[in-house]
Amino acid sequence: TYVVTDACINCKYQDCIEVCPVDCFYEGENTIVINTEECIDCGVCEPECPVDAIKPDTIPNSAFWVELNQKHAESWPNISEKGTPPADADDWANKPDKLSLMSE
Ligand code: SF4
Ligand code: F3S
Repeated sequence: TYVVTDACINCKYQDCIEVCPVDCFYEGENTIVINTEECIDCGVCEPECPVDAIKPDTIPNSAFWVELNQKHAESWPNISEKGTPPADADDWANKPDKLSLMSE
């Protein structure tokens, strides 16, 4: 599976959404996640993200991200069409360690 990491938080550009062939993204208030059981590992979303938030599960610490993505995917609504990114998305683009800001 692929996962969305904390680089997405408060950026939520949503360029990833439209390319997913199985529509396995789920939307929170300030970020999105991948349903890791629905993801078919095609990888087409990874290069679409302007802030490089999407990673394969071969990265170090991937188990943490897989669990976090799946937990939220099971309660957040599905999103299959790109909406409007936050007005201040660009201000958050290069901020590290945004995990504590993640919406529940
Ligand atoms: Fe969707 Fe493919 Fe990205 Fe998985 S890797 S979330 S199937 S676009
Ligand atoms: Fe987030 Fe990047 Fe998609 S910022 S919504 S993972 S394009």
